[in-house]
Amino acid sequence: MIELSGVSKRYGEVEALRNVNLGIKGGEVFAVVGNSGAGKTTLLRVISMLETDFSGKYVFRGIDARSNPEKVRRRVTMVFQNPVMFRTSVFDNVAYGLRIRGINGSELEERVEKVLEFLGILDLADKNARKLSGGEKQRVAIARALVIDADVYALDEPTANLDAENVRIIESAIKEMRKRGKTIVLATHNLFQARRLSDRTAYMENGEIVEVGETKKLFESPEDERTRRFIEGDLYL
Ligand SMILES: Nc1ncnc2c1ncn2[C@@H]1O[C@H](COP(=O)(O)OP(=O)(O)OP(=O)(O)O)[C@@H](O)[C@H]1O
Ligand SMILES: [Mg+2]
Repeated sequence: MIELSGVSKRYGEVEALRNVNLGIKGGEVFAVVGNSGAGKTTLLRVISMLETDFSGKYVFRGIDARSNPEKVRRRVTMVFQNPVMFRTSVFDNVAYGLRIRGINGSELEERVEKVLEFLGILDLADKNARKLSGGEKQRVAIARALVIDADVYALDEPTANLDAENVRIIESAIKEMRKRGKTIVLATHNLFQARRLSDRTAYMENGEIVEVGETKKLFESPEDERTRRFIEGDLYL
């Protein structure tokens, strides 16, 4: 689905991504873990083609992403860590993406309601989205992404700072998305979450992918000393 070769991204002096080589398969949940500043968000932004000014090669489903950014953006949707709500109802926030694609009437209504129900926010449909709690906002952001039916969802820290109940709802939505064949790239600080949800995990440090592997293997017997230190530090601190 996604193939990055020698991808680097620089912000002035900072090398946010250094020579990233990475393949992500269709239908997998792929977790990206690493400390703050490691480059997780930057990687998701490149994958979603929100960041186009990078060097190296990005092939999405066999096509060159740089020459077809719109095609990639239609199939890959990113959900941001701090989603911005439009100053309208929850329903309209979620319906927006369908309306700009020319979908209206009963199809629009059905699709929005289905997604709201899926995320347990149907009862909030008429509420002003700006007045929701953090967890509710995050669920609306995921609903907005899901309603437009992309192939790949890049989720940036979807449960950071949320309570257990919201984490549970969002994690079960991610599991259900996987069941429906969606590809998920999940940036998370939470190693336990990566472990619960992902098929494979990449550990990043200073813009570099240090190690990629099957999640169970990476957590239980990491090959790189840096990965081991990160995992042990996080699990035993
Ligand atoms: N728009 C930007 N302008 C300048 N520097 C940036 C920009 N975005 C990111 N950076 C820098 O690039 C590096 C990687 O940032 P990135 O946001 O990808 O890290 P991260 O792993 O997502 O961190 P966190 O866990 O805190 O979200 C950091 O050093 C950051 O300061
Ligand atoms: Mg980030």
